[in-house]
Amino acid sequence: ALHESFSSKLEARQRITNQLQPYASTFKVAVLGAAGGIGQPLALLIKMSPLVSALHLYDIANVKGVAADLSHCNTPSQVLDFTGPAELANCLKGVDVVVIPAGVPRKPGMTRDDLFNINANIVKTLIEAVADNCPDALIHIISNPVNSTVPIAAEVLKQKGVYNPKKLFGVTTLDVVRANTFVAQKKGLKLIDVDVPVVGGHAGITILPLLSKTRPSTTFTDKEVEELTARIQNAGTEVVEAKAGAGSATLSMAYAAARFVESSLRALDGDADVYECSFIQSDLNELPFFASRVKMGKEGVEAVISADLQGLTEFEEKALEALKPELRASIEKGVAFVHKQP
Ligand code: NAD
Ligand code: LMR
Repeated sequence: ALHESFSSKLEARQRITNQLQPYASTFKVAVLGAAGGIGQPLALLIKMSPLVSALHLYDIANVKGVAADLSHCNTPSQVLDFTGPAELANCLKGVDVVVIPAGVPRKPGMTRDDLFNINANIVKTLIEAVADNCPDALIHIISNPVNSTVPIAAEVLKQKGVYNPKKLFGVTTLDVVRANTFVAQKKGLKLIDVDVPVVGGHAGITILPLLSKTRPSTTFTDKEVEELTARIQNAGTEVVEAKAGAGSATLSMAYAAARFVESSLRALDGDADVYECSFIQSDLNELPFFASRVKMGKEGVEAVISADLQGLTEFEEKALEALKPELRASIEKGVAFVHKQP
């Protein structure tokens, strides 16, 4: 116990030192789809990061104005704009992290899978360019359906001979952000303390919040578990319906994606205490891709945290089994899409 308290004091001191010292390194980040509903506020939040030296903004249209506007903020990073496929390679050269929110969003009545036909092609094309120009970068996929677009990206990278499963991430941070918010509200907890791991995938019942693993340790009635789980699983639809045809979550998504970018950059910078949930290639169970908490390091995923999946409640065990067929089908649909291409 003595040793533990000494090392935690040391860690705390190290964290304070880290906060006082300027960061050792700075990084280049590209956003593909930067003129969109997510792309614009995400670019703003990344522009505020002290860890970023260059922000490369790419879209098929309207990105010049976004970049000119952002470039007037007196924060360190340089903002560069890239428009259309002819400028994509230059956008990607030398970047450390590529974030992809390019693609169409849902309208009321649609599932995320209804976006597959359009977004699968967009993601495939963008990942081909990533493979050719920055194969070592961390790749953050936001474009839906994430359960399929991440496997699509993996297959494209494999075909190009540059797939590194430790560096490909489906962004599920918004599910964690929502779970933390809703749990804190329901239980009257201080928001800053609450952390709920969310595993599985990113659509409907494949989103599985592990409420029994909430930190700080919190007890829920069966009714609370059912209601909170359903609200977290349907939160995307809640926003789609409120926006009534004008798209899906953009601001909370930008917030969540910026958190995931910042965590990735801290990990690249050598911070040894970075954990996030993400949809990655996984061997936690029989599914080839699965969202779970991961420890992030200088080379991307450093460890997959299996402990969250041990000692689940009966409700969670059932929900986990129930999500597997849908998640597997979405993964296989993504893989098949790449292999049936001419
Ligand atoms: P949006 O329509 O506002 O913006 C999308 C942008 O992508 C547009 O600026 C468009 O020009 C651009 N784009 C289209 N094709 C492109 C291409 N080939 N190359 C580069 N850019 C291209 O949509 P949005 O609200 O920003 O949502 C974007 C995507 O993010 C959607 O698929 C949505 O479902 C998804 N999303 C995911 C999460 C998540 O949690 N992972 C959350 C919210 C939204
Ligand atoms: C979300 O969870 O908000 C996103 O996946 C967008 C959507 O279509 O719900």
